[in-house]
Amino acid sequence: MFGWLKRLWRGLWTPSTRWALGTLLGGGFVAGIAFVAVFNTSLHLTGTDQFCAYACHSQRTHVAPEWEASSHYTNRSGVRAGCADCHLAKDFIPKMQRKIRAAWTDVPGEIFGWIDTPEKFEARRLEMAEVVWAEMKANDSRECRSCHNRAYMDFAAQSSRARESHEDAAKSGETCIDCHKGIAHRKPDMPAEEGESEDFSL
Ligand code: HEC
Ligand code: HEC
Ligand code: HEC
Repeated sequence: MFGWLKRLWRGLWTPSTRWALGTLLGGGFVAGIAFVAVFNTSLHLTGTDQFCAYACHSQRTHVAPEWEASSHYTNRSGVRAGCADCHLAKDFIPKMQRKIRAAWTDVPGEIFGWIDTPEKFEARRLEMAEVVWAEMKANDSRECRSCHNRAYMDFAAQSSRARESHEDAAKSGETCIDCHKGIAHRKPDMPAEEGESEDFSL
């Protein structure tokens, strides 16, 4: 039954009598380059705002409008934080881990319609947000820090509330996401003890 598989396996490991080694190596090289090109392009395309914000229904209708209304979309400085800037690591390994998780959770969510109506989305918003918060807490708000750096903050230019909190944070070891929830999305409704005391969302 598996005779063809055996033949294929054997064929793969038997030296070729028909093709010169150079041809085989050359072919492998070209195939390798083609693979890397396709891999890189898909990695890039699945990390653009065009893809993340607008390609699928749930993000286009529920997520994109909130982001578009936030100061991370347009602001006086003209620097936009796109979806990937906050949600996707820059380094290869964590980036791949996030992509694999997206393929595992976000894509089926879209396909099976788990979050395709505003009601279903709201019902799951807190659960989804908690995943993001846990991730950002664990990596010390790494993606926020790829743009914001406490060391470059002009505390004198900040409100006294911001200044005091940022100075305190240096001592207490709190990280950006501990205080700044809901900066690009509507903050989920949550039990008082989880968010009220630290509600600095702007
Ligand atoms: C791509 C760069 C970038 C990333 C990533 C980023 N920000 Fe920002 N952030 C900005 C810019 C630009 C502004 C607006 C500055 C201005 O007002 O001119 C801003 C504004 C803010 C403000 C001011 C309040 C407001 O909304 O007006 C807070 C708070 C903030 N960011 C927190 C965060 C946190 C927390 C993260 C991580 C979850 C983060 N930022 C990720 C660039 C970024
Ligand atoms: C202990 C809580 C706390 C932590 C931790 C914290 N912030 Fe803030 N941040 C605040 C408060 C409070 C404000 C002022 C909000 C207001 O005035 O409404 C603020 C304001 C800001 C602003 C706006 C400043 C302005 O003058 O408009 C930015 C940008 C910001 N934070 C970025 C960050 C980033 C990036 C981190 C992580 C490196 C961080 N914050 C960590 C509490 C915190
Ligand atoms: C400035 C950083 C920032 C940007 C830009 C951003 N997000 Fe988020 N995102 C967060 C944070 C932080 C959370 C955790 C919940 C919260 O605090 O709002 C989150 C949560 C989410 C959630 C879970 C549901 C929810 O509302 O909490 C989804 C889905 C999501 N983001 C998708 C996107 C997409 C798609 C884009 C681009 C259109 C985007 N995000 C842009 C920071 C960002």
